[in-house]
Amino acid sequence: MAAAIETKQLTKTYKSKSRNLTVVDKLDLHVEEGEIFGFLGPNGAGKTTTIKMLLSIIEATSGEGYILGKELGDFDVHKLISYVPERPYYYEYMTGLEILKFYGSLFGISDVAHMQNLLERVGLADARNTNKTINQYSKGMQQRIGLAQALLNDPKLLFLDEPTGGLDPIAHREIRDLILGFREEGRTVFISSHELSEVELICDRVAIINHGVIVAQGKLTDLLAGGRVEILVGKLDRGVFSDMKIEDGNIHDTPAGVLFDVPEGSDVNAIIDGARAKGGQVVSIVPRKKRLEDLFVEAVRNK
Ligand SMILES: Nc1ncnc2c1ncn2[C@@H]1O[C@H](COP(=O)(O)OP(=O)(O)OP(=O)(O)O)[C@@H](O)[C@H]1O
Ligand SMILES: [Mg+2]
Repeated sequence: MAAAIETKQLTKTYKSKSRNLTVVDKLDLHVEEGEIFGFLGPNGAGKTTTIKMLLSIIEATSGEGYILGKELGDFDVHKLISYVPERPYYYEYMTGLEILKFYGSLFGISDVAHMQNLLERVGLADARNTNKTINQYSKGMQQRIGLAQALLNDPKLLFLDEPTGGLDPIAHREIRDLILGFREEGRTVFISSHELSEVELICDRVAIINHGVIVAQGKLTDLLAGGRVEILVGKLDRGVFSDMKIEDGNIHDTPAGVLFDVPEGSDVNAIIDGARAKGGQVVSIVPRKKRLEDLFVEAVRNK
């Protein structure tokens, strides 16, 4: 599959009289078409700076970048992409529909039925029907109008900066479902986010950036491989299993029984069969998945 975003050694250095500050350092990003990509990193890591370079809002100091195959700085590609900033700024006294008409006019889009559909799609039909203006919108509604605006030009690639920041759990889920819908329609979504549990639920691949440098990048399923499985067997103690061979696993005595702690992908059936053959009672089997939060903390702390 073609790359939606590709950067090679992309670098941004802010120069001042006293010193040069490199805030994005030789970034090699690879985002495939049709995937949801999570761009993560602590505050000040260089995420927004990177997005601004990808959108050609600021110029890279060195390196290369390609958006949908076009080199950075080629503004033709902007017809095919869209961007929702973390805190979008809208004219306060416009209604949602007026906002869409305004942004539509910038793209030469005037199809009002299309705009009405978008308002419905992002869950703003009520606000439309009651003619609410943006200053009467809640935070969640403002995020939604941002997404409606981002869909106006039927983009192939969307950049979303913190799309679920400050939302309640129901709004979270609705926005998440909308974003998953974008992928179903074949769009590529580049999300910068601090909400790791959210990212874990929707992203195909992620990159973690720290001090301008990528410290981890890849498929989430690969990055989060290496979880464990815990099997608790009651009625016995550890000695009974002294002849059982368990690769890369541990066996502990606990008040509730013997706990087998083995790598994800181990032959759990064999352990259960072995335990039962010795008269053990299987109490529980609990997968302990590796969490994105653990990966994030490890990757950021070690660099
Ligand atoms: N115009 C500028 N001149 C000098 N330094 C800048 C400028 N813009 C950003 N920086 C610095 O670049 C670094 C990266 O900032 P950036 O906004 O890209 O971080 P971020 O990863 O988006 O953080 P956050 O999660 O807080 O949004 C910070 O140290 C910031 O102070
Ligand atoms: Mg930022």
